[in-house]
Amino acid sequence: MSDKPIGIFDSGVGGTSIWKEIQKLMPYENTIYLADSANAPYGAKSQEDILALSIKNTELLLDKGCKLIVVACNTATTNAISHLRQHYDVPFIGIEPAIKPAALKSKSRKVGVLATKGTLASSLFHSTSENHAAGIEILEQEGSGLVPLIEEGEIQTDATKKLLQRYLNPMLAEGIDYLVLGCTHYPYLIPVLQEILPENVKIIDSGEAVARQTKTILEKRDLAISTSTNCEHQFFTNSNVELLEQFLNDVDANLNVKYLDF
Ligand code: DGL
Repeated sequence: MSDKPIGIFDSGVGGTSIWKEIQKLMPYENTIYLADSANAPYGAKSQEDILALSIKNTELLLDKGCKLIVVACNTATTNAISHLRQHYDVPFIGIEPAIKPAALKSKSRKVGVLATKGTLASSLFHSTSENHAAGIEILEQEGSGLVPLIEEGEIQTDATKKLLQRYLNPMLAEGIDYLVLGCTHYPYLIPVLQEILPENVKIIDSGEAVARQTKTILEKRDLAISTSTNCEHQFFTNSNVELLEQFLNDVDANLNVKYLDF
């Protein structure tokens, strides 16, 4: 069982930011990544649609023999993970906006959260904000249009920078000192964000924490790989193979990227 792959899915290329953290921490584990780019963005879809897409991705990863599934998408986690945990036997690791560490560190007591509509509207996001950010003002901003731009490979462009300025300026005017990236696509925007944000505003995302939690659960359930062999990393996209490859071109590992109709 322990040499079976870790399954990872996202609405597209963004979850590769999580895959990279997992690979950095556990380079010996086999992985299978699904980029559901044909259905991106998830963020503006109804909860039923997000759930149906999450079930489809989960069942494909289970058919491929995955021992654990990482829902590398805040929108799918906040809308579907409790259903997935109830209906399938494998462990699921999710990702949520890192409100708790930002709230603990904020001195101005004002934290900005940039996330999709689906994440910000979810009850999981609201309960996390209530339970872990008492006394902190959370300034929420939907990142409408950002995921489609990233899925087009438009990152360091004027269009992306202008949209980010429009979204961030109001929260900067309010005096936030932390910006939480509540979507796994957004870490790819960090170079542009750094051009916009003043130095006192720190960026927080949850990628590293998700990788650590994945490792903890694998070890607890006796699922961590026991012998270090030549590991395999399979990536499947139902859209543009070259685009997915571009998001992985900084990775020094043997990757297998393919088109799959799913
Ligand atoms: N990467 C997804 C997330 O973390 C993007 C959602 C979308 O496709 O809108 O929320």
